[in-house]
Amino acid sequence: AEDKFVAELLSKMTLDEKVGQLSQYVGGSLLTGPKSGALSDSLMARGMVGSILNVGGVANLRQLQDKNMRLSRLKIPLLFAFDVIHGYKTIFPTPLAESCSWDLDLMYRTAKAAAIEASASGIHWTFAPMVDLARDPRWGRIVEGAGEDPFLGCKVAEARVKGFQWNLGKPNSVLACAKHFAAYGAPQAGRDYASVDLAPSTLAEMYLPPYKACIDAGVQTFMSAFNDVNGEPASGSHWLLTQLLRDQWKFKGFVVSDWNAVVQLKTQGVTADDKGAAIMALNAGLDMDMVDGLYNEHIAEAVKKGLVSEATVNASVERILRQKYRLGLFDDAYAFLDEAREQQTVKSAELMALAREAATKSMVLLKNKDALLPLSKNIKRIAVVGPLADNRAEVLGSWKARGEDADVITVVQGLRNKLGAATEVVYVRGCDFLDTKTNEFAQARQAAANADVVIAVVGEKALMSGESRSRAFLSLPGLQQQLIDTLKTTGKPLVTVLMNGRPLTLGHVNEQTDALLEAWFPGTQCGNAVADVLFGDVNPSGKLTVSFPYAEGQIPNHYNYRRSGRPGDMEQTSTVRHIDLKNKNLFPFGYGLSYTSFAYGAVECASRFDANGHLKVAVNVTNTGERDGEETVQLYVADKVASMVRPVKELKGFKKVPIKRGETLRVEFDLQVRDLGFYTNSMKYVVEPGEFEIMVGPNSEELKTKTVVWEK
Ligand code: IFM
Repeated sequence: AEDKFVAELLSKMTLDEKVGQLSQYVGGSLLTGPKSGALSDSLMARGMVGSILNVGGVANLRQLQDKNMRLSRLKIPLLFAFDVIHGYKTIFPTPLAESCSWDLDLMYRTAKAAAIEASASGIHWTFAPMVDLARDPRWGRIVEGAGEDPFLGCKVAEARVKGFQWNLGKPNSVLACAKHFAAYGAPQAGRDYASVDLAPSTLAEMYLPPYKACIDAGVQTFMSAFNDVNGEPASGSHWLLTQLLRDQWKFKGFVVSDWNAVVQLKTQGVTADDKGAAIMALNAGLDMDMVDGLYNEHIAEAVKKGLVSEATVNASVERILRQKYRLGLFDDAYAFLDEAREQQTVKSAELMALAREAATKSMVLLKNKDALLPLSKNIKRIAVVGPLADNRAEVLGSWKARGEDADVITVVQGLRNKLGAATEVVYVRGCDFLDTKTNEFAQARQAAANADVVIAVVGEKALMSGESRSRAFLSLPGLQQQLIDTLKTTGKPLVTVLMNGRPLTLGHVNEQTDALLEAWFPGTQCGNAVADVLFGDVNPSGKLTVSFPYAEGQIPNHYNYRRSGRPGDMEQTSTVRHIDLKNKNLFPFGYGLSYTSFAYGAVECASRFDANGHLKVAVNVTNTGERDGEETVQLYVADKVASMVRPVKELKGFKKVPIKRGETLRVEFDLQVRDLGFYTNSMKYVVEPGEFEIMVGPNSEELKTKTVVWEK
């Protein structure tokens, strides 16, 4: 029925109406970039608007859909899109934060919840998940992804796609969009929008797998990237958008450009004018033009001149109509527009409870000297200091969709909620983020000196990470470091809670503070979640999905670097080193503490992969501390001898498991040798026989090893 419906509709459409389906316009004031083609009634009347982004709310969307249905000849429903990245009105922790939970079910559930909330507000389609692998903490959009590892990146991509699209076709689910294709997370020097220059094998092994994982999970749309990949502009690349995406990977949905990415082909210097940009993009396989209106302006004429075939236009239109059909919009253009459902769903108690759970599970305990944490609930006086301690505006992080600052529970509020009247919570801001001239150090010192414990809540402003927010210096901005130093002079136990979108250089802060909790941008339930963790109602279980360097000069600092012929460190000359800093991250990939402790047994497995290339690996993990806890057991592999230089280790499995106090759990992995291969420079995927090191442990550095053999 779908085929017949789409074919019949297509046959009735004029060329202008077809091209209109390929055009997306911004309908609200939420501009995320320069210059946009203008949405107008006359465009709608000519059937030349296929989709609208950045409008939310049933009442607003109903108006737009009404107008479209009234004015356009064929009454093809509009598709409404929005950046629902980590929640719609109920804001969950940022995606990087959430990836640190290593809890795939949680990520599925928050994506599903965001879909339920956004779709209740009329949204059909989210521009998420962002699955760009990011190994450079200078890049601001690292906050939107799942960190530096492709294996984890694939699992998270799958969970998020399945969550957003959990009930696709029904008005409580949304289309997901895998973005930004391809390799947007690898701009030179971490500067957003810069060129991407990657060895083909690195591209294939590290950067491409999460996009492919989205297709395997059923994603229905892709977004093309702003950048070029090795000189080829992603949004005009037939290689990426057709050969790889459709021919090789069999993607059947449609591709939307990023904001103005089509007109930017001109700025990138691969075509001389707007017309050339539109032709290049559509011929490459880019179905929908976001915002700049160039398809509407140029494609019909290009078809008439034979520069784009009508079959190409038809194929793109068909892909988009199919999605509208599957969403049920041809049965009822207003299917997602139900005021009563919106009222009941948005910001429900259930959503808020999930936001709190997700925030607590995303936090990573980085230091806990002398088991300072968890704090006792009988403390008499707490000093809470820092520009993020009582700040509603800065803790939702970038892409807060329609999240409202007024709904945020700050840390000060969360502590008061938790502790009641018997504990005095004294708040002093201490300093701002960027202002380096004024401070309230004297008041902060006094509050700290009079308190039993001091909690400093410091980090980045929300929009210091995110799109177009690359940083060259990764230390705490402004006077926050000095604020910590000031608090330290009081000698009081000092807990630092960090809120930030990316790894920061925290060497000094780490030395000065007794306990360090990476809370990221926790979302709407920020303060309640921080209080849950600080007071032990939740035992922290997050682990870093991205390495924290000591200094910016170490970047790229990802854990899975390739071997060098001259291994060694700063003490030895003629080794792969900096002369002024050790080859170590401050906090490695996979690292995170708990209020309990875990002891790992030896790696247990056969000495060879079996004839089918399988290897069962097991390890006993014992909870040796005083509390129940959750541990993410990590499995890494290194190919000992290969025809190409291989990474020192690569994550190939993980399991997050609850382990009760005193209990030992046997954790098992099923390893398949076909997943341990690599690409040669001629882009051949090979799995070579020989020895592999199998490593298991609590993070990428504290690993137990066993060597096994694979013979063909
Ligand atoms: O979805 C985003 C994209 O990630 C960055 N540019 C703007 C798009 C739409 O808002």
